[in-house]
Amino acid sequence: MSKKSYKDLIDSLEKENYKFNFFYAETIGNHLPEDSDWNYKDVPHSKFVHEDLSSIQVCTLEDTSGSINILKLPFFGLSVPLATINYEQSRFNQIYFSSFGPYILIVNTISKKIDSEKTKVKTSYAIGSKGLFKYFHKIIERMILKNYNKLMLEDVPMRQRRGELRKSGHKFYSDNKTSFKFTEEINRANVYLDEGVGSEINIKKSSLLSSKKGDRIGQSSGILSFFITEEDNIKKLWPTTCSHEGAYLDNNCIKGEKIFCPWHNKITKPLLIISENEKNKFNILPCVDYLTTDEKETIKIKFRNDPKYYDKNYKQ
Ligand code: FES
Ligand SMILES: [Fe+2]
Repeated sequence: MSKKSYKDLIDSLEKENYKFNFFYAETIGNHLPEDSDWNYKDVPHSKFVHEDLSSIQVCTLEDTSGSINILKLPFFGLSVPLATINYEQSRFNQIYFSSFGPYILIVNTISKKIDSEKTKVKTSYAIGSKGLFKYFHKIIERMILKNYNKLMLEDVPMRQRRGELRKSGHKFYSDNKTSFKFTEEINRANVYLDEGVGSEINIKKSSLLSSKKGDRIGQSSGILSFFITEEDNIKKLWPTTCSHEGAYLDNNCIKGEKIFCPWHNKITKPLLIISENEKNKFNILPCVDYLTTDEKETIKIKFRNDPKYYDKNYKQ
């Protein structure tokens, strides 16, 4: 399969007498190139994370994604459909193209590590058209940059969150599965803990019984960190980190008896129900990602910590 580079694509259109305006935007964040690259490939988040973008996914392949993006135009407030193809040209280098009337838009995002903690993501844009239409390129550029700023306000926190988790020993299976298609499997647990960090925790029953609404239990952050909710003398213990790709979970994500993750809407139930007035004070709820057991003085919570478990042909 051949895949044109950003430059080759522009060269081909210039031969067809298209004239281009070029500009770029950059972000620098505390994360790895893997995190921004994953974020650009992540098909399902646009529906839940982006306010001014809704997307109808047309085809999702390993290295290519086709969608109809309905984008709210800045300044005008009008929503327009843009048929968009996005493909991975090489590792950490993705290309998008779309057209609207006489205009063609080509976008290239490249993620590069600039030191041990930071990554720069450069997004280059080329707007092309023929004849007098080129006089509107500057207006389109302003709209695109305004739109970019809004999208980055929503995307960069996702990348930074993963950067934070990496610092406390967390890893992501999606570093190895760098595909658009893989991002659609939202019921997986792709977060895992580095060997050496340990994947289980013992929590004293006494500290659970004396806990209050909003208390953090277990580790301070990450997959072995939990929080308490309380209503009518019944407390519940919930994870603070979504096992799918690491979103931060809190009280605001709870609807009814479940947590709905803000990144891709994976549903999680509480791990434990604690009721002070009953004989059975600790009611453990089954969960595919965590094994919770009653150990007399403590409640032990063990994270599955095996992202391969969710693969189709899993064999232990
Ligand atoms: S991070 Fe994907 S559903 Fe939570
Ligand atoms: Fe996004």
